[in-house]
Amino acid sequence: MKLRIQAVTWQEDACVLIDQTKLPSQITYLTCRHYREVVDAIRRLAVRGAPAIGIAGAYAVVLAAREGVTPLEKALTEIREARPTAVNLSWAVSRMQALISDPKKIPLERLLQEAQAIHEEDLLGNERMAELGAALLAKGKPVMTYCNTGDLATGGIGTAFGVLRQGYEDKKISHVYACETRPVLQGLRLTTWELQQNEIPFTAICDNMAALILRDRDVGAIILGADRIAANGDAANKVGTYALAVLAKYHGVPFYVVAPTSTFDLHLGSGDQIPIETRPSSEIVGVLGNNQPPVALEVWNPSFDVTPHDLITAIVCEKGVIHRPEASTLKAILDKPSPH
Ligand code: MRU
Repeated sequence: MKLRIQAVTWQEDACVLIDQTKLPSQITYLTCRHYREVVDAIRRLAVRGAPAIGIAGAYAVVLAAREGVTPLEKALTEIREARPTAVNLSWAVSRMQALISDPKKIPLERLLQEAQAIHEEDLLGNERMAELGAALLAKGKPVMTYCNTGDLATGGIGTAFGVLRQGYEDKKISHVYACETRPVLQGLRLTTWELQQNEIPFTAICDNMAALILRDRDVGAIILGADRIAANGDAANKVGTYALAVLAKYHGVPFYVVAPTSTFDLHLGSGDQIPIETRPSSEIVGVLGNNQPPVALEVWNPSFDVTPHDLITAIVCEKGVIHRPEASTLKAILDKPSPH
């Protein structure tokens, strides 16, 4: 399937990122020649989405190694810790780090090849998940999605978004309800932009309208991504996902999580152990613009929440579909060889 936009690319010795903080009104690129520029872009969400930050993190390792940063170990920790919840980032850094056995002999070419392999595998995994996910859908119904999971969030056509594209092409999806995704509006700014580019009919809604839509509009499924999935199938994703899962259960709507194996963290027994990023209060109160209260508001801004596995109908990864996710069903699929 054709890629509309590439969130992360490697071009002429630089990691080039589309600046997602400026979308959809401006398409601008950040050319990162120093690893710290990538770290900064990850922290301030210029590049975001679990697989995309993994890929950007891998290229940041290449940059740090080429810059001759010493000790390299310290730079790797900085990259790994740029954001804590999406395990794709630390997974990618560990995969790169495994190639460095002697800090005095850094295999620069090999590091670039590995980062490009991480990128390519994500792209191929997206295609496979799109097919597997679309096959789960009933004919011609509207679906709901959350946050942003497309080209902007991955190395390919997307996780959940790939399923939206394939499902629409196969006439299994008639319409998409895109939740705005407060506070940073990844849904309203980025998913609507990608839906427009792909000419998929959609309606944007505020997050608090989801229950009404699920009650009244014959929604066939909720399809979204994940940032980290524990060994028992509990899945962390953008805050608000858990609320949608509860609503889906009440209304009898299938709830599908689409995520590559790089998003699974089998070291964690359950979702309680997933570290949840807390972000600045300005992301919430910024909506008030110049109309700020005289005394700063007390605000809590967790960026993710965890959906318990028993609210998830199935998890789609590139190795297969994990129906009724729990430790044993996860293991059965994850033990399979990679399809590429
Ligand atoms: O804070 P963000 O924008 O990086 O959060 C992204 C999400 O929560 C996505 O849904 C998730 O990474 C899955 S997608 C590809």
